[in-house]
Amino acid sequence: MLRLKNAGKFSIGYLRQVAWSERLRRKLRVSIEIGALAGTMSVRILGIESSCDETAAAVVADGREILSSVVASQIDIHRKYGGVVPELASREHLRRIVPVVREAMEQAKLRLEDLDAIGVTHGPGLVGSLLVGITYGKTLAESLGKPLVPVNHLEGHIHAVFLEAHKAAVSPPLPAVCLIVSGGHTVLYEVHPKDSTRSDAGALWSYRRIGGTRDDAAGEAYDKVSKLLGLGYPGGPILDRLAASAGSAPAPVKFGPTKMKGNGFDFSFSGLKTAVLYHVRENPEYLPEIKDREEAIARGDRKFDQLLPLCNPKTLGLVREFQNAVVRDLVERTLKAAEELAGPTILVSGGVAANKQLRTTFEDRAQRAGLKVFFPSMALSTDNAAMIAAAAYPRFMNNILADVSLNASASLPIA
Ligand code: KG4
Ligand code: ZN
Repeated sequence: MLRLKNAGKFSIGYLRQVAWSERLRRKLRVSIEIGALAGTMSVRILGIESSCDETAAAVVADGREILSSVVASQIDIHRKYGGVVPELASREHLRRIVPVVREAMEQAKLRLEDLDAIGVTHGPGLVGSLLVGITYGKTLAESLGKPLVPVNHLEGHIHAVFLEAHKAAVSPPLPAVCLIVSGGHTVLYEVHPKDSTRSDAGALWSYRRIGGTRDDAAGEAYDKVSKLLGLGYPGGPILDRLAASAGSAPAPVKFGPTKMKGNGFDFSFSGLKTAVLYHVRENPEYLPEIKDREEAIARGDRKFDQLLPLCNPKTLGLVREFQNAVVRDLVERTLKAAEELAGPTILVSGGVAANKQLRTTFEDRAQRAGLKVFFPSMALSTDNAAMIAAAAYPRFMNNILADVSLNASASLPIA
């Protein structure tokens, strides 16, 4: 940190000059270090993620090798409220951030001094939650004298696909269309390399937003429908498995494709959620079952095997029709975007990318259309810090750094 003795004796202009030369000196030092690292030893970045309800830390080498990844989920805390409570989330981040980072360092078998940089999510997300990770990241970077790299959470989700592909020694070709689909986001981007001659992990990308949800995110629709059917929180994993168990149960209702004026690459899921709500209200025979499931969940019996016997074929048929509608919308619009715009690669990431039917439908439809689709593993689909450390790598290598003025940005865009 820059310390000035007898600061009162100097003019503001002089102090500014000293501060600027200090910043320049630091920037130069970082550039020299980056230059020295290129082509020699690996670059190890600690990623910190706290944008929503997961406190996560991970160490990634050279933007692609995961040396450790630790995620502390807060699901048990938010479950009884049926969704993330921001105030509780930030308090829990405060409690967990230190042990989570310590565990990530232990798993990676590294000391903090061995790190080359700290990458931290600074948006989009819940401001109180983001501030915990940012403040911790800044303090760590300052005390260690290491560079701080600001990372966009959505850019992290895109890097999760590349981390996964790297495990199979594959690099998804760019340009690509990327669908990020989670509890907080449902958005389509075109991803281009900034420099078309580069495809290495240190290359920067540019993004163009081509569509997104006009109301609820797809994961949010899963969570709300799950709640109204008495199936608990989060909704995605349980509805995914129940839909797969529906077999040939008759469809109690059919949901048509969402029709919207304007941008054909936009999504909307609140109408579908409301249609499920009205269907349940108009058919009171669902209600005793919903009550039974709510009681089971309150007892802690929330596992698939415990809830399946409490769902009659009509409920299973309803869940299957809901999932069919979500998956159809996500897949069709993304494929259309890939065919009309970016090229042969589709990247899918975010919590809902863990959905089995979404994966198989994407794979099947993409293959028939001559497109290639890439997903992260389940663990890398949901929020984690390995994707943040991976996204920090090209920024670090290109000297895109933050200083202590870094702040949280609830709706930080990447494009
Ligand atoms: O990416 P994520 O961990 O956090 C956010 O940034 O939101 O995503 C969590 C969301 C939740 O809404 C959850 O219900 C949904 O992802 N989800 C799923 C599945 N697993 C998680 N949705 C559908 N099918 C799944 N298998
Ligand atoms: Zn996320």
